[in-house]
Order: sequence, then C-alpha cells, then structure tokens
Amino acid sequence: MPHSFFHIFLISLFLYNNCIASHYTFTIKETPYTKLCSTKKILTVNDQFPGPILKVHKSDTIYVKVRNRASENITMHWHGVEQPRNPWSDGPQYITQCPIRPGSDFVYKVIFSIEDATVWWHAHSSWTRATVHGLIFVYPVPPKSLPFPKPDHEVPLILGEWWKADVREVVEEFLTSGGPPNVSDALTINGHPGFLYPCSKSDTYELAVEKGKTYRIRMVNAVMNVILFFAIANHNLTIVASDGHYTKPLNVTYITISPGETLDVLLHAHKNPKRIYHMAARAYSSNPNIEFDNTTTIGNLRYISSSKANTSSLSESYPNLPYYNDTSAAFRFFTKIRSLYSGQVPVKISRRILTTVSINLLMCPDNSCGGPNGSILRASMNNISFVTPSHVDILKAYYYHIKGVYGTRFPTFPPLIFNFTAEDQPLFLLTPRLATEVKVFKFGEVVEIVIQGTSLVGGGLDHPMHLHGFSFYVVGIGFGNYNISENPSSKYNLKNPPYKNTATVPRNGWIAIRFIADNPGVWFMHCHLDRHQSWGMNVVFIVKNGKGPNQQILPPPRDLPPCY
Ligand code: C2O
Ligand code: CU
Repeated sequence: MPHSFFHIFLISLFLYNNCIASHYTFTIKETPYTKLCSTKKILTVNDQFPGPILKVHKSDTIYVKVRNRASENITMHWHGVEQPRNPWSDGPQYITQCPIRPGSDFVYKVIFSIEDATVWWHAHSSWTRATVHGLIFVYPVPPKSLPFPKPDHEVPLILGEWWKADVREVVEEFLTSGGPPNVSDALTINGHPGFLYPCSKSDTYELAVEKGKTYRIRMVNAVMNVILFFAIANHNLTIVASDGHYTKPLNVTYITISPGETLDVLLHAHKNPKRIYHMAARAYSSNPNIEFDNTTTIGNLRYISSSKANTSSLSESYPNLPYYNDTSAAFRFFTKIRSLYSGQVPVKISRRILTTVSINLLMCPDNSCGGPNGSILRASMNNISFVTPSHVDILKAYYYHIKGVYGTRFPTFPPLIFNFTAEDQPLFLLTPRLATEVKVFKFGEVVEIVIQGTSLVGGGLDHPMHLHGFSFYVVGIGFGNYNISENPSSKYNLKNPPYKNTATVPRNGWIAIRFIADNPGVWFMHCHLDRHQSWGMNVVFIVKNGKGPNQQILPPPRDLPPCY
C-alpha cells in the first residue's frame, strides 16, 4: 500500500509540474505591425503584440530569459509581483539594474508569493512598455480553489495605446521640447483599435461566447497616459479580483481602470444571442485644460449560436460609458472595491509620510521651450523632481556602498505647506528641486503614506501611484486637502479596504495607503502615467535588511547586466 501511494504521489507531482513551465525565453525584437493603415516597427516579445501570457501557480518561482535583439536598451518588470528579498529582478532601469544592452541577455528570477488572480509584466526603460507587455495568470495550488464559481473560460483583455509615430520619437520630441507628449492615435483592445477609427474596420477585437457560459476576463490597463472607462453593452460585470488580490464580488455596469491596474471580471453570457454587443473603452480625464486621447476603442461580443451567415443583419448595442470628466463615476467604482478578507490592515503605524504629487515648471532660456509660457514641464513628489541615475543603478549603489549616486533625504513632509488645491497658486511654488533622494526604512516598519494631489500648473490631474515590492491597503481617499488636525483617519476603512499595488489619487484630492516594510530591497514608487514618470513624479524606498536569515536581500545574480 505505501508503495502505490508513493507512486500516485510521484505521478501527480509529475503532472502538476508539467502543466506549467518554469523557464521561459522572451526575445525582444523590432517587428513590423500595421494599424490604422500605417506600418511601423515596434518592439515585441517573441514577435507578439501584445506579448505572451505567463501562467503560474501561486508562490511559484519562474525564470524568464530576456534576450535583447533590438536596437535599444531594455529592462523587464513583473508588475504586482512582490519579489520577496529579490529586488535584482524587479526591473526599473537605473533603479534596480542597468539595462540589458542590444545583443545581451539577462535571466529574471520571478518569485511569486502572495499574489493571486492576475498581474502583468512590462518593459521598464524609457517608454518601451508601450508595446512590450503581457498578462500573468496566477492559479491557486490544489487543493486550494477559487473563491468564486469556476468560470467556463478565461479571456485575456489588454487595453493598450497606439501611436502611428515611432514611440521613441514621441519620447525624444517631448523630452527635448519640454512640452507635453503628442497624444496617441488610438486606444486598443488586445492590440485592435476597432472599427470607429479610420482604416480600422477589420481590425476589431471579437469575443465569441456561448449562451449560458461564464467568462473570466483577466484585464489590464497597459496604456501609457490615460485612465479608462470600460463597459460591455447590456452585460453587467462582476469584479472578483483587483491587482492580483481577490475582492468581494462586486456587480457593476462599467469599470474604471488606471494604467498599471489589473482586474478579474466575470461575464455571464445570458443575453439574446441574436444581437451584437459592443464593448468599449475611452479616457477618464478630469482636467479639461489637458489634452488627451479622446478616441474610443470598440470590440464585439458575439454569441456563437448566432450563425455567421447573416451577421450583417444582427442589430447592435453600444455600451454607455461615463463622460470623460465624470470624476464621481470614476471614483464611485474605485471606492466600491473591498478586499475579500478582513482584519489584515496594520493599525499601529511607526512611520508616517505625507507627500504631495505635483506638476511643475522649470524656467527655460528665452522662454523658448515647449511647456506653458515657454517653460519646461516637470513633476515631483514633495517638491523633489526625481532625477534617474544614468550610470549606476540605485540598488547596486546601495548594495556595494557606492557613494554619490543618491541621497537619503526624501522629505517625510511637504517642504512647504500651502493650500494644495487652491484655484490659483503663487508662481514661486511651481519650481521643483531636481534630485535623486530616497527614503530609507528599517525592516518591519509599519508605514502610512498620504499622497496629496496639488493644483499646481493647470489645475492638476488624477495620478495612479504604483509601488514596487509591496501590496498596500488603500485605507482612505478624499477630495480637497488632507487635514492633519481634523484626523481623517477616523473615516478610514480599516476593516476590508482594497489591497493593491496601484491606487489613483483624485485630482485635487488624496489617498492614504498602509503597508509593512518587510521586503528588504530597493523599490520604486511612481505615477503610472508615463509622462508624469518621465517628468520625475517618482521616489525610491530602500528597506534595510532585518536580523533574521530570511530578512536579507538575496545575493545578486551573476549575469546582472553591467553598468557603464
Ligand atoms: Cu507597472 Cu514601475 O511599473
Ligand atoms: Cu501622474
């Protein structure tokens, strides 16, 4: 008996290990793609856009060999994967590594731990993530199962953004001019702009469903610069996870999703199959003074039973999306999300940080630059506009005690207290300090960060703030100024707030997040609108080693790309 039991054990181990690979190769290459009747070469992974899906079980470790066969530098980030003790594989260029040069390789060790549901991966150098991105499906390890009824099918859904121009040129242009970047030409669903765009009729994403079945949509907002509303005509959606963590099931008619966020959404196909139901996404942008891509991407939801023969005769339904500037619709969605589990929020805070997030201006000689009144656009946190090192990454500088790469004086409080959200701001507040300042935490500190949006330069905008290395609880959110003396924490949700890695600070409002700094390493925090990141709305957290053997940074991999 023990003999056969052992055999069954071995066989099941064998089967289990065989479902899912643990070694992958990502070859980065320029590949021609045609959208909106114009062809250009884009960066791709294994020739695919969007890139391949990775499938893992909870707490797996996988190895992804990234081979750079393109003509520009690249790094890869595993967005939402906490990578315990392993900042070496986290990816942001010159924060945790020097770039993989053209012709070189680097093997990323991606350590999954507490992540469930859906996370994603994307390039993390300049704006290469525009086309280099893909989903990661996380499955529970048997005998654990899903906290919701098993869906019949899984559907990847990547929201993207497309420029007809080479993205490298878009970046070059706005960084040299000092002005805002050109807005994109299209939004996309799984790479397809849809039939509302000129010359794009046949380039429309289609999801074929069977009546009576349930579909689990694993979705990410992979666009560079806009928050999106998304909906499917006549179909309610049930949110079951957000940013790789299960949520209480939430029924909605539309979704708000910020760049960087992932959602797991159940779709029940139970409508009249003799119609076409369109899905659509378009921008949420609260500030009318800021130009944005205001186009709409469309996809089709088609029931398989409706025979293909007479599709032209099928009547169509379009979804209702909230209007572009409908802030209350956007945040009604965000604030309804609840964690599935309660009672996990840290309550005894040992480190409090209040930081502003602002758009700023620098003077430009002869007022000849592309920003407002000939200035240069920048962005900041606590008035420090982050300057990314250009020769050595911060992790290496920290680990090997290399001096002169960064300072440790990121302020824990705004250097100047002003009416952050006033309609008019005095000019002297506009200029940030350019510096590379980090914030150092002791291992295990319990951190609360309040992130306050300001109205500097044109009235501000919503900022989806993303933290590497951790998930955090979004315990509070509000409009206007965070008022310390009023103690808004009395209104916090400390029971079951959403557990996330990206959370959106409302325009002229604030959010409060909490996490325990128990992951030693160097971790980037930044706005996931890439133009704000490029302008410096970033900070780096260094979490020191703890005393225990499992509280220390892992040793560096031997094939780490060299810096020079
Ligand atoms: Cu999804 Cu630092 O990024
Ligand atoms: Cu921002």
